Amino acid sequence: MANPLATSGILYLWLNLLIMNAHRMSVMGFIARWPGGRSTRSYDFKVQTTKIEKLCNTWDIVTINGMFPGPVIYAQEDDRVIVRVTNETPYNATIHWHGVRQRLSCWSDGPSYITQCPIQSGQTFTYEFTLVQQKGTLLWHAHFSWLRATVYGAIVVYPKTGVPYPFIYPYEEHIILLGEFWLRDLVQLEQSVIASGGGPPPADAYTINGHPGPNYNCSTNDVYKIDVVPGKTYLLRLISASLNTEHFFAIANHKLTIVEADAEYTKPFTTDHVMLGPGQTLNVLVTANQPIAKYSMTMGPYMSARNVPFQTITSTAYFQYLGALPNSLSSPAPVPTFNDNLAVKTVMDGLRSLNGTPSVPKEIDQNLFITIGLNVQKCTSRNPQQNCQGLNGGVMAASMNNISFIKPNISLLEAYYRKINGYFTEDFPGAPFKFYDFVNGAPNNAPVDTNSLNGSRTYVLEYGTRVQLILQDTGTVTTENHPIHLHGFSFHVIGYGTGNYNPDTANFNLVDPPYLNTIGVPVGGWAAVRFLADNPGVWFMHCHLEIHLSWGLSVVFIVKNGQGPLQTLPHPPADLPRC
Ligand code: C2O
Repeated sequence: MANPLATSGILYLWLNLLIMNAHRMSVMGFIARWPGGRSTRSYDFKVQTTKIEKLCNTWDIVTINGMFPGPVIYAQEDDRVIVRVTNETPYNATIHWHGVRQRLSCWSDGPSYITQCPIQSGQTFTYEFTLVQQKGTLLWHAHFSWLRATVYGAIVVYPKTGVPYPFIYPYEEHIILLGEFWLRDLVQLEQSVIASGGGPPPADAYTINGHPGPNYNCSTNDVYKIDVVPGKTYLLRLISASLNTEHFFAIANHKLTIVEADAEYTKPFTTDHVMLGPGQTLNVLVTANQPIAKYSMTMGPYMSARNVPFQTITSTAYFQYLGALPNSLSSPAPVPTFNDNLAVKTVMDGLRSLNGTPSVPKEIDQNLFITIGLNVQKCTSRNPQQNCQGLNGGVMAASMNNISFIKPNISLLEAYYRKINGYFTEDFPGAPFKFYDFVNGAPNNAPVDTNSLNGSRTYVLEYGTRVQLILQDTGTVTTENHPIHLHGFSFHVIGYGTGNYNPDTANFNLVDPPYLNTIGVPVGGWAAVRFLADNPGVWFMHCHLEIHLSWGLSVVFIVKNGQGPLQTLPHPPADLPRC
């Protein structure tokens, strides 16, 4: 008789081999399938001009398929998504899939003049990408001029079949899209604001799922409402699609439990309110555990900059219990005051990735220091009255490392891929030209010299570089919370603080930092993020406040191809639009 221990030892070895093999096979199987995806979801997007009634006006807005907000993209983790976009408007258009990491599909990322020329009037372009290891709530939006003010919608990615949420299964789920509405032609608005040299006008209204709620002129009945069953728990997919303002969100008398941020699970964190900058998403659980009534859901501005006019009226929707009198008054939700920086910090402090993040790079290869902020350029116009309405008779601008990014008039990705010279340079500096008191000082010799340089400068990264970015807010014009968004990647937010970044005192969390695609860099402060540059392409990083993007608060990373399989950017699709 064989020694039972030996047998079990052999059995153990054999089992181990089997498991290792199965594991390897599944990894290989996964790679072999990728980027093909599991199933394919196809959508048809028609960019259209659509008449709507808002705030007592009949108004033409740009929509997808006549819908405002636009259609929801539903998919499951690892699915292939194909969206055929036809532009039936007189404007240029592109669509960006905000937060989709676009593994080897940079051509489908969507920012105009960065990864593609705009889809011109009458043309079609088909976006194709795989949601590789991504699930949760994201958004899509136009990425040409300011069209995204009305051209936006949700992306909802469910876990794979049979994989549960890591939290209590909600009775129902609802998408809540926060927006800003202008009774203006948004392309003209951007042009006229830029031509004026000054700042943008405030929005006419904030909106929740396209509805301003009862607080504005002529909007009494234009209110979004969720009917809730007492005792049940709801999952709200909160998405900020607003243009130039960050927002607080709260529900009267109810707690919100954050369980996911930017489509990555977080440790449950319970709070009275949340703050979302444009581009940010949060999944929150809400339990209807209050007396039967009608409660307000409120969206109010968070404005951390000084002397910037903004819409102060809040947008309201209803969280209405079954059995509540429809005409009963709702108790208002107490959103923090517009400049409550502490309320923002409290929420940020609560964001921790659910299971820790083994993938956070412990070592780094490149440590970049990037200042972000506003500038005022010297007026050079012969008509200053008209064109220099910025501070002190200058022209407003914004920059990274004091360089205002100028978009080329062709696609930067194409220029890079086809080696077309003359449209960009590769000399974006990895640190500011000058170190000074960023929060209280100014970069140039005299404190009154607030100019930046102009250029289409990119920063080139070798494939596989482990990158750390220190993002430092400046007070050149005014300090401000900037929602900085990186295309093509999520990053681990390992630290943040107020004041000037100091490596000797900065505290880093390498254990369970949140994994985000947009980080609200604290007003007058800094944030440290890390990511692995393992996706070849040309990737935009910019402030998601649209006016700051127009003013040049952006940079482009070029990630080179690697040597291994699936480390090379494929050829461009045949229908890629031409400029
Ligand atoms: Cu959601 Cu480049 O943006």
